[in-house]
Amino acid sequence: MASSDIKKLVRPHLATVESYQPVDPPELLAKRAGISEKDIIKLNGNENPNPPHPAVREAVANTPFNIYPDPLQRKVRNAISNYTGIDADHIIAGAGSDELIDLLFRLFIQPGDTILDFDPTFGMYAFCARLAQAELKYVPRNETFDLDIDAAKQSIDARTKIVFLSSPNNPTGNLASEEHIRALLDTGRVIVVDEAYFEFCKQSAADLVPEYENLVVLRSMSKWAGLAGLRVGYGIMSPTLVNYIIDIKSPYNLNIAAEAGLLASMEHASELQEAVDAIVDERERMISLLQALPGVKPWPSAGNFVLVQFAPGKAEEIFQSLAKRGIFVRKFGGERLRDCFRISVGTPKQTNALIAAMKELV
Ligand SMILES: Cc1ncc(COP(=O)(O)O)c(C=O)c1O
Repeated sequence: MASSDIKKLVRPHLATVESYQPVDPPELLAKRAGISEKDIIKLNGNENPNPPHPAVREAVANTPFNIYPDPLQRKVRNAISNYTGIDADHIIAGAGSDELIDLLFRLFIQPGDTILDFDPTFGMYAFCARLAQAELKYVPRNETFDLDIDAAKQSIDARTKIVFLSSPNNPTGNLASEEHIRALLDTGRVIVVDEAYFEFCKQSAADLVPEYENLVVLRSMSKWAGLAGLRVGYGIMSPTLVNYIIDIKSPYNLNIAAEAGLLASMEHASELQEAVDAIVDERERMISLLQALPGVKPWPSAGNFVLVQFAPGKAEEIFQSLAKRGIFVRKFGGERLRDCFRISVGTPKQTNALIAAMKELV
């Protein structure tokens, strides 16, 4: 079969889909900078600079890889229940919160339905919308990147199914207020509050879940627990929604190593939280060092990352120069963030190297 024939069989909207722009793996970044992998400073993925808790390595090593994991994730959901104080029947886990975002699209979206996205925000919502043939309505954030609730309400129509809200918002770092979240919930649409960075701010909408059947709170183990590579996240929502997700998810979606990693992390949650608090302190130190540089404006942040704004036209040049020195930060497409890039909070040593390089560059 000629390759042109196979192309005709691919669903047309997927054959030409704009793909998600993921971050490259460390070995590729190192090759590009012409330095060894151990010398790169990777601040482009909002990963945790610390390795997982040592108990994770031990738990994963003792995992029976030849056995399928529990499709109903009983142990995992109970452990998350202990951690969050929310009943296990309100909880479902996924291969990263990314998988849960995808499952929410599968559950609610038919081609032509609309989702609302508060731009600029995490790119996964728009990517999944493209895959699902959903129409994407952008509600621009205001000049301080906060929500424009009136504009959001006006944008909602009969076809609007899901409103995605990242809080803290990646990449701008700001939180959504409870008042705004309630205003959105009162529209009756599915409101997804993505709390991937909850442990860095400790502000959550999870307490509202028993009150609102249309609320879904997403959390991740990638950031606070340092399990990005194991892929594990979870959602908090009504038992009705949990059961729908269970019915449509692939049966063994949470692999057994991810399961073991989550269980071990939850047992050591308070130690992990102490390390998270140190990252928050480091974030504030990084912000004040950035503030002292001429022409550099760090935005306040409630996550483990900082959006930094430069004089018009400067961001790309500095971004490229940092990459040449082996320091990788995240630059975004689109007009609104043209003069910005996002820096994930690393170790104090990494912050110092970043600031020294930026001092020379600005
Ligand atoms: C707002 C937001 N939600 C979800 C995710 C995905 O997290 P996970 O690794 O759990 O899939 C990220 C990752 O960067 C994120 O920034």
